[in-house]
Amino acid sequence: MSAQNEAQREQWTSRLGFILAASGSAVGLGNIWRFPYVVGENGGAAFVVIYLAIILLIGYPIMMSEMVIGRKTQKNAVGAFLNMAPGAPWWVIGALGVFSGFVILSFYSVVAGWSMAYMVKALQGFTPGMDFEGMFFDHILGVSGPLVWHAIFMAITLGIIGAGVVKGIQRTVKILMPALFILLLVLAVRALTLPGAAAGVAYYLRPDFSQISADSFLTAIGQSFFTLSLGMGCMITYGSYMNKGENISDNAAWVVGLDTGIALIAGFAIFPAVFALGFDPGQGAGLAFITLPAVFASMPFGGSLFGFLFFALLSVAAVTSAISLLEVVVAWLVDEKGMPRVKASLIIGAIIFVVGIPTFPTIMGDFSFLGGDVMDTYEFFANDIALPLGGLLMSIFVGYVWTAKKAQEEINTPKGGIFVGDWFGFLIKYVVPVAIAVILVMGLYSKITG
Ligand code: TRP
Repeated sequence: MSAQNEAQREQWTSRLGFILAASGSAVGLGNIWRFPYVVGENGGAAFVVIYLAIILLIGYPIMMSEMVIGRKTQKNAVGAFLNMAPGAPWWVIGALGVFSGFVILSFYSVVAGWSMAYMVKALQGFTPGMDFEGMFFDHILGVSGPLVWHAIFMAITLGIIGAGVVKGIQRTVKILMPALFILLLVLAVRALTLPGAAAGVAYYLRPDFSQISADSFLTAIGQSFFTLSLGMGCMITYGSYMNKGENISDNAAWVVGLDTGIALIAGFAIFPAVFALGFDPGQGAGLAFITLPAVFASMPFGGSLFGFLFFALLSVAAVTSAISLLEVVVAWLVDEKGMPRVKASLIIGAIIFVVGIPTFPTIMGDFSFLGGDVMDTYEFFANDIALPLGGLLMSIFVGYVWTAKKAQEEINTPKGGIFVGDWFGFLIKYVVPVAIAVILVMGLYSKITG
């Protein structure tokens, strides 16, 4: 069974196909919904500086590690470790990843569903004086509305994954990623040309380090893993559909660069507008759904149209990421359990849909854990714990078990692209694990002691 599956294993048909798929995975709600509000809550530019340092020193080496493990083994997240370290428990990293994929996609789909619902709300018109806070809470406190959109979003996701790597994933990202770039640029130009936009730009670019705490570092590392789709074997899985002639260091640089660039531009599309129209950037998770509709409503012209374009952008970005989360789980079932792809997509899609339902505030209203609701709790375990832990274990695996030397050699084959010298070994053996461990311990301590 498994030999037959290997013979039929699909591959991206071009380098562009891979880069678009992997950057489609990376660019998502994390960039457009989460990044701006996390920046807003953590002191603007000071947080951005920490975030960029983590992306470069931790994100890039792990991105290359995941991709090269995938390309070398041509296996899913669990199978890759079984293949490289037979008889050793390193496959647990992949298993943790498959589990995180479940949890992340379950709340991801709920938020993506809000975004699709807001496309419709924008078309119905955002007008000044509307109560956008009331609108948002009415929506998320409802059951049937969010449930229907959550179901539609999961159906789209599993439809694409069921269709396969080339006909499903690659075909979708080739259409949606260019659309996403164009939408984002239109929105950034609109925001930057509003009178008073400069105050938002200043906030975004001028660091205020007094706002930074140990918690900010944990948030920054969690955000970095989340936005780059790292720590759960997503890039192992996508890398496993790469042919062995593909370059790793350049492809990883493209994905990291596109993801970071798009998050930064999303900030330019949001903060100038928020400041120009006199709103508060530290709104939290409601920034995109409460503050921005109010911002669109108070634009001198075209507010509802730009509102629609924004939520279309957010929904598109979410689809190309959600498919990568589902693919991690489906690839595991297909490779390791011999389950047909369509059946795996349907079963897992249905389970994830159900697991997402408790995040509706109305369903588990009195739940509270460390001061957060169900969605915060899912996010906390997945983003703040499972992903950094996955990254930590991967760096130990690559640096010491496989060994950095061998990893470097494999990354540099075939020749060409950014040369991966001993700096990689230094980062993956020392900087990455120590930084993650310190940030995890300090951040969790400060979180738990409040
Ligand atoms: N990176 C995506 C975002 O920013 C979310 C995502 C997709 C993800 N696949 C992942 C996060 C794997 C962590 C791990 O929205």
